[in-house]
Amino acid sequence: MSLDNLTRSMRPSVARIAADLDHFATLTEPGSGITRLAFTDLERLAHGYFGSTMSDLGLSVHTDSVGNTIAEMPGQDDAPALGLGSHLDSVPAGGRFDGVAGVVAAMEAARLLRDADIQTRHPFRFVAFAAEEGARFGQACNGSRMVSGVADASDLRRLVDADGVTIAAAMRRVGLDPDGWLDARWSPSDWKAFLELHIEQGSVLEHAGVPVGVVDAISGSTRLFIELSGRASHSGGTPMDQRADALAAASELVLTAESLAGETQHEGTRATVGKLDVQPGSITTIPGVVRLTLDVRDVDWSRQRRTAEKFLALAERACQRRNVEMKSTMIADASPVALSVPVREVIAQAAEKEGTPYRLLASGASHDTQMISHVTQTGMVFVPSRDGISHAPEEWTSTEDIATGTRVLLRALLALDKQAAE
Ligand code: GLV
Ligand code: MN
Ligand code: MN
Repeated sequence: MSLDNLTRSMRPSVARIAADLDHFATLTEPGSGITRLAFTDLERLAHGYFGSTMSDLGLSVHTDSVGNTIAEMPGQDDAPALGLGSHLDSVPAGGRFDGVAGVVAAMEAARLLRDADIQTRHPFRFVAFAAEEGARFGQACNGSRMVSGVADASDLRRLVDADGVTIAAAMRRVGLDPDGWLDARWSPSDWKAFLELHIEQGSVLEHAGVPVGVVDAISGSTRLFIELSGRASHSGGTPMDQRADALAAASELVLTAESLAGETQHEGTRATVGKLDVQPGSITTIPGVVRLTLDVRDVDWSRQRRTAEKFLALAERACQRRNVEMKSTMIADASPVALSVPVREVIAQAAEKEGTPYRLLASGASHDTQMISHVTQTGMVFVPSRDGISHAPEEWTSTEDIATGTRVLLRALLALDKQAAE
């Protein structure tokens, strides 16, 4: 059957997509928005729902040693696999769509392939990655970093959450096996391509009025943990010229990050202090210790690193002036990635054939696809985010847009399936 006839008969169901989104949204800590942190029972419940839905469709499902859940639909021969998927964990007080949209698109694609009863040449692998968000441990894309060989076991022991729990310990608590991380590795020869649908998390598509984005590059991220030690003392008794106020120093650092990223030679750089822990945290005590994080994102890796270095030099100077001691640790340093041009063209052609307007754009956020690019050729389909908001309870994408994106995604995968073997 021609690709046109095939995809004409495969219409994503808005109702099924909405039902899956609603179900995942029930798996949250109480409170505002969605809180389903990496390597927690709630994240595992979400993986369980994905796995049972896929196994009900007759796919073979397994969760690897590091927590990624993979469902496979066999191909005709031992051709390398085509993959699709995203992640199921969230940031604290995040939204319903980040990651979930791509997993739900993969679930709907599996249903459509099953209903159409077609036999693809390549096996299709539907993936829910573990622990994509850096919110808990600082480092993003933990599951995909392990399968792609970008990370090794030392990362699992090095990084800790706010309670001092290492990634390895958190994994064990939910029944995973950090010591078996090598078994989770993906081999490039086993893969033909991987595609991820994701919400844009910005407002380029909304402003352009187009329902689909084709991603050409994914920003990198350099992340620092900084501890400032001043001197805690009485807020009334200590004269202003005798203070070593760690929070006053931290405030300079926050503004330094903002103004550095705003300089004209940094057009496109984003720098954020997202966490600030003030000790002892009393109205009547000068802050003695402040811990903060810096996240620098860019599509230009040297500029990304230069920004972090410049920030540290300026921060050091500000702290010396204030008699505050500064210690910094680099928690993560992910490079930006340019996605495959041929895969991008296949996605763009799929959008054209579907009559779906699209535009090319870069991703400001990190994605599992960034890591999977180290294994195989990759592509991303973005769908619009209302008001460009994400990592917040107000995050919203219409189910119709997710259905449109799913059509483009599936058509692109089927086009890749039909491509002559290299
Ligand atoms: C992942 O969501 C990121 O922080 O970019
Ligand atoms: Mn995401
Ligand atoms: Mn996210």
